[in-house]
Amino acid sequence: MKRTHHCNELRPAHIGQTVTLDGWVHSRRDLGGLIFIDVRDREGRTQSVFDPSDLPKDLFEQAAALRSECVVRITGKVRARPDGTNNTKIPTGEVEVMASALELLNYAEVLPFPVDDPEVASKVNEEMRLKYRYLDLRRPEMVRNLRVRSKAATATRFFMDEQGFLEVETPILFKSTPEGAREFLVPNRREPGTFYALPQSPQQFKQILMVGGVERYYQIARCFRDEDQRADRQLEFSQIDIEMSFIEREDIYNLIEGLLKRIWKSTLNIDVLTPFKRLTFQEAINRYGIDKPDTRFGMELVDFTEEFRGSKFKIFAGAVANQGVVKAINAKGLAGVTQGQMDTMTEYAKSFGAKGLAFIKVEGGEWKSPIVRFFSDAEKAALTSKLAIEEGDLILFAADQWLTACEILGKIRLYCAEVLKGQGKLSVPADRFDFLWVIDFPLLSFDKEQNRWYSSHHPFTAPVAEDIPMLKSDPKKVRGQHYDIVVNGVELGGGSIRIHQPDVQKMVFEEVLQIAPDETKLRFGYMLEAFRYGAPPHGGIALGFDRLIAILCGTPSIRDVIAFPKTAKGTCLMTESPSPVSARQLRDLHIEVKAARQEPPAV
Ligand code: AMO
Ligand code: AMP
Repeated sequence: MKRTHHCNELRPAHIGQTVTLDGWVHSRRDLGGLIFIDVRDREGRTQSVFDPSDLPKDLFEQAAALRSECVVRITGKVRARPDGTNNTKIPTGEVEVMASALELLNYAEVLPFPVDDPEVASKVNEEMRLKYRYLDLRRPEMVRNLRVRSKAATATRFFMDEQGFLEVETPILFKSTPEGAREFLVPNRREPGTFYALPQSPQQFKQILMVGGVERYYQIARCFRDEDQRADRQLEFSQIDIEMSFIEREDIYNLIEGLLKRIWKSTLNIDVLTPFKRLTFQEAINRYGIDKPDTRFGMELVDFTEEFRGSKFKIFAGAVANQGVVKAINAKGLAGVTQGQMDTMTEYAKSFGAKGLAFIKVEGGEWKSPIVRFFSDAEKAALTSKLAIEEGDLILFAADQWLTACEILGKIRLYCAEVLKGQGKLSVPADRFDFLWVIDFPLLSFDKEQNRWYSSHHPFTAPVAEDIPMLKSDPKKVRGQHYDIVVNGVELGGGSIRIHQPDVQKMVFEEVLQIAPDETKLRFGYMLEAFRYGAPPHGGIALGFDRLIAILCGTPSIRDVIAFPKTAKGTCLMTESPSPVSARQLRDLHIEVKAARQEPPAV
């Protein structure tokens, strides 16, 4: 290797040394007869200077012909920059390299978008960035993200190894299991009509590893789910996947708190305080209207069910009489919303099933609202004291069944927080991380359309022991030994203590989830059989690795922390996948395609 230094390394201490830099032409400026070339590599930038009075004519001309992103090797002597020309924005800004040799390692054509100016680059639309991902990756921000990702993976591996975990790889060609998200299928050439499925997670294999006596397993595992894409979801993504034998929930909390502490220290040099707070599902919904609360700000939901029982305001009294609740939040400082903004917010609430969004604006010492004239003095006094109402506040109400009312106000709470942030009335420090465990989830949820119970997490989650007798008599009340780890309102991961008794697992499949016995046998027979041969009690968790990195990097989109992500439509714009295949390939796979492919409209 001829390179002597990276482009972030040179300092005044190097003055006088002859160095060789390899990298890309970040920029070229011709000034006062001199040519200034900033060379950039993965680590940083250094200015080099080409002086015609010192250099052979052809070398100088070669420098003059360089364009952005040409790949070069520049050799020269380090010197101090002349007085007044230091660049305080870059670490190498006190020195420059007086070029004595230049090698053009490769030429670059004019780029589809510039990568040298962060201002411009940040405005390039994402489709362009994804089509030319290799150019996008040259931006320092993207390099930073990949570096954080790599450091977090390394910290994970060291930590898990210290804790006695074995890293085990599990198959990517797996079997179709109809629980959870839609799967990707892979046709089997050897037996027409049979398919592998790509794993949604290594859940079943990691449990089988416990039966296999591995005791402590982890893997940074690739998972595949054919679900709608969002900023925090990709078709393929990674998990820090963990399973342990002979443990209880507390052991997982301890382990994960230690792991996250290590990751935050090694990537951001931040000391995360442990143990993390814990909230039951019930409390999370009651206070924040969501099972992944952002606790970095207040604006908590307050209950007024008792106060409005029998109220003159029929909408609230009616909801209470109907076994529902009345909940309110105080969006401090938002009284100035316009009618238009109030309408938008009401529509937003309605999109989550709200019947309306009653409000009070506290302005000029008055409660401005179409509904306060129905309120008694006692009701007003209760609102004032429990919501600490002051001038400038906006009070918002939801009256409905408990979960619906809470969830609506939970959405409105987040909406108001965004508006308040935009107005500079709410600020959250970028280095604040509120971790918390959400526990005691209901084991089952009811699907009204299909008229059956389904697992809130997955069917392998163990019920809380004392709730087992209610499994058949009162499934709604059964709590699962499930836990989610949440940070700043993002569900980072989830897991559970598993069922390890074959009879309980079979009962859950067949009698609670009502999966037909032959279907159970077909899908999970091997697991039930494995459990009969000495399955240890076990449990585990999976952390969304991409989400974790996005939080560390402070970006809302996991696409920014994945080298080659897919678009919202599930395509890779760079390789243009998915793509059609040849008739012969289809024949080999015994596949006939019925629907004609939609050609994109001609432009
Ligand atoms: P779960 O389905 O909750 O649990 O997934 C665990 C975590 O994985 C992340 N995640 C995703 N990240 C990006 N794109 C997606 N499409 C996506 N889907 C999920 C989330 C989530 O919290 N086998 C169980 C874990 C266990 O029980 O041990 C599982 O996969 O951060
Ligand atoms: P109405 O009498 O229907 O005009 O409603 C009076 C106010 O109460 C309006 O601001 C509605 O948006 C609001 N509202 C109606 N139903 C509910 C409800 N279930 N929860 C909260 N607010 C409601």
